[in-house]
Amino acid sequence: MTSAPPPELSPSPPAGARPEVLVECTEVVKTYQTAASLLGRRSMRAVDGVSFTVTAGSVMGLVGETGSGKSTTGRLVLGLERPTSGRVVFAGQDLASMSGGDLRRLRRQMQPVAQDPYSALNGRMRVSEILAEPFIVHRTVPKAQIRRQTEELVDLVGLPADSLDRYPHEFSGGQRQRIVIARAIALQPRLIVCDEPLSALDVSVQSQIINLLRRLQAEFSLTYLFISHDLGIVRLLCDTVAVMYLGQLMELASRDALFDAPAHPYTRALLASVPVSDPLERRSRARRPLGGEAERDPTTSQGCPFQARCPLAEEECRQRRPEWRQVEPGHFVACHLAGPGHPAA
Ligand SMILES: Nc1ncnc2c1ncn2[C@@H]1O[C@H](COP(=O)(O)OP(=O)(O)O)[C@@H](O)[C@H]1O
Ligand SMILES: [Mg+2]
Repeated sequence: MTSAPPPELSPSPPAGARPEVLVECTEVVKTYQTAASLLGRRSMRAVDGVSFTVTAGSVMGLVGETGSGKSTTGRLVLGLERPTSGRVVFAGQDLASMSGGDLRRLRRQMQPVAQDPYSALNGRMRVSEILAEPFIVHRTVPKAQIRRQTEELVDLVGLPADSLDRYPHEFSGGQRQRIVIARAIALQPRLIVCDEPLSALDVSVQSQIINLLRRLQAEFSLTYLFISHDLGIVRLLCDTVAVMYLGQLMELASRDALFDAPAHPYTRALLASVPVSDPLERRSRARRPLGGEAERDPTTSQGCPFQARCPLAEEECRQRRPEWRQVEPGHFVACHLAGPGHPAA
């Protein structure tokens, strides 16, 4: 692996040109069959009509409580699961229309980094073997060059060269996550889907891995879909942020718009539940954190999914699902009450 950008990366677009959309999800739905009830099996919408785009070279955060459908969305984007309906397009190609072989080739360009670096690595393999595997499976590098490639990879992620001859259990959690990241960038992907990549790590180690992710993103023009429930980390790392609730997107905006002018009552509640270190800011926040729990109501799928917990909910919110609309350029929200002239504005 050289430190020059991989050849398939397009050069930066000329000024004024539209940035390239790398990932485009349109009305994506993923249903799962849940355990049998008295009435038989029932399907549950883990992802329920989600639309968003990720611009090449940007970092999009995906936040929301446990069970909101973040990981499922990540797997759909990676082509590891097929949507029940809707489309996932990567670099202009509809994943659903691709044959197995084409999809496998395309998957080189998108790699996962998951939460748990302990279970992500095969404990019986040396780091050299772990990092050689992608080159062998995808036959992208002649055998004789693989060792040198793996040496470059460990160097890129800040591990000593002798790491290659050791086994995963000899490393700390942070070092293991570096190995996972090295494996993810081996084939020079365009997209990395990071699913809670820091939540198993100590806070001091988290910031080191954040710095590493940032450095690699700049060096290789990577695009990240960064799934997290930690809004502090998302604020540090992401250019845009999407907020999910019970399988649906509630809001999507630039980082600054989302944190400074959140439009959705759910986003506001999430932000209010983040500990604030500045006492002045703490006082100015008259927002109440979120009470209750996200619960799918099996008896009805009408209305806004957040209405049961929303302090502003009105009759319309119970009757009709809010459409996904743009309230400012690049700022989308699914709320009847958000936008100029509305109580949530
Ligand atoms: N393979 C699966 N089979 C059945 N239900 C699933 C499966 N994967 C996820 N779910 C359900 O879908 C919902 C969303 O899950 P997930 O995407 O993991 O949410 P998150 O990552 O935001 O915590 C959850 O209710 C979960 O139990
Ligand atoms: Mg998850």
